[in-house]
Amino acid sequence: MRCTEVEGLFDEPSLRRAYGQAARERAQKEFSVKVMVPRTLSLCQRVMAQAPYRPLLSTESSPGAVRAGHCHCKQLSPFYSRLSQGNCGTSRGHCMKKALITGITGQDGSYLAEHLISLGYEVHGIVRRVALEQPERRLSRIAHVQNELKLHSGSLESYPSIFHVISRHEFDECYHLAAQSFVAESFADGFSTMSVNVDGTHYMLAALRELQPKCRFYFAGSSEMFGRVRERPQIETTPFHPRSPYGISKVAGFYLTMNYREAYDMFCVNGILFNHEGPRRGFEFVTRKITSAVARIKLGLQSELRLGNLDARRDWGHSADYVLAMHLMLQQDTPDDYVVATGETHTVREFCELALSEVDLDYRDHVTVDPQFYRPSEVDLLVGDATKARRVLGWEPQRTFRQLVREMVLSDIESLSHMNAVHFDMMQASVR
Ligand code: NAP
Ligand code: GDD
Repeated sequence: MRCTEVEGLFDEPSLRRAYGQAARERAQKEFSVKVMVPRTLSLCQRVMAQAPYRPLLSTESSPGAVRAGHCHCKQLSPFYSRLSQGNCGTSRGHCMKKALITGITGQDGSYLAEHLISLGYEVHGIVRRVALEQPERRLSRIAHVQNELKLHSGSLESYPSIFHVISRHEFDECYHLAAQSFVAESFADGFSTMSVNVDGTHYMLAALRELQPKCRFYFAGSSEMFGRVRERPQIETTPFHPRSPYGISKVAGFYLTMNYREAYDMFCVNGILFNHEGPRRGFEFVTRKITSAVARIKLGLQSELRLGNLDARRDWGHSADYVLAMHLMLQQDTPDDYVVATGETHTVREFCELALSEVDLDYRDHVTVDPQFYRPSEVDLLVGDATKARRVLGWEPQRTFRQLVREMVLSDIESLSHMNAVHFDMMQASVR
């Protein structure tokens, strides 16, 4: 039996990479990671515990050294017999976990796919047929990992298409992220938002119940469900009061997910995620609308940015941090619901101020309020308390608000500088 051995001082990202690399080399049934400082031990255990293999950790060899053994199907490693559960933790009795992501072409789907790949998962995604026909345009967020993904054509509007995918592959985990996710659009077309978000979620749950009831299910719930908030900060028990067809559709999805958990004993969890952004955010959302405009203003291609309500407050985190919480929710012993948030709230005005100050400009010289971007009913304030996620999942956000804004501004300046400005314009056009 070959053994991959990695030695050295590890921070969390390099430990994850080392783990993912070894996990991908599936011919190897076992690998060990030696860590040189005792402090890293708990970190190592945490990373291993999140990984798709159920590891055996032993500290016997030397202080601060960790040895991780893994079973692989029927070929048992010397450590296998010492695994308390006697199996590797997948529902199918072998090691590499299979995950299905709906909405894999979106912001969160792309970060989650990357994360699961780095953990050694076999990652499948449901994409709309048109995406397979126009990969340059519609698969751009996952282009860099596309070779490592298995994509299936399907739509949330079609139960047969979902049933078809789920009937042909056995999944350990399903992350249901696909949705019509733009709140403003849900006012413009509430019917299709409800249909995609509510029926689509129901189709996923019903197909899994029918075909793979052991598959663990994550539903992308939202802080929009709190709407006109009844308390501050918002926690898992804060009552819902949605303010848009989108918010209503997410409340319905939340209760569908809870009902499948209670009625059929399925492992179904709701993540109640507050706004999370990043350089891959869609241009229609306010943060990306601002940072892409800042890039154009900086490069002299635009001078004015028209926005709606500057006083709305949001708890903005980074998508790359938040997808880790999704994964952790499905690794617990029992299914539950979790708020994922930073605990800080900022106005749209503050976002503008900070984004324009990154390029030494004053937002008051460039931002104009345009009533066409006001919503018929607004969510004025969101701020979450993620104490439960911190305590139970060991999750916490890694990036600050300032880092998020800076990363998005710099990324848009970089893209616009390298990209054909006409192409950038086309991508941004729908929001100006
Ligand atoms: P996003 O970038 O808008 O991605 C949405 C995804 O859903 C895309 O992959 C899209 O595919 C897919 N989709 C839409 N309609 C579909 C249909 N009829 N059939 C199949 N796929 C469809 O959203 P996100 O920011 O990554 O958010 C992911 C999920 O988390 C969403 O459910 C959203 O409501 C929820 N959420 C987001 C936040 C946030 O701040 N980002 C906060 C709370 C909850 P195409 O590429 O083909 O359009
Ligand atoms: N999009 C947009 N465009 N929003 C604007 C604008 C504008 O020109 N001007 C002001 N805003 C305000 C909106 O009124 C809202 O109060 C706030 O900026 C944030 O809007 P979005 O970025 O569109 O996000 P959202 O908060 O409505 O919804 C996002 O977060 C939810 C979680 O709370 C989406 O990602 C949802 O899918 C997600 O569930």
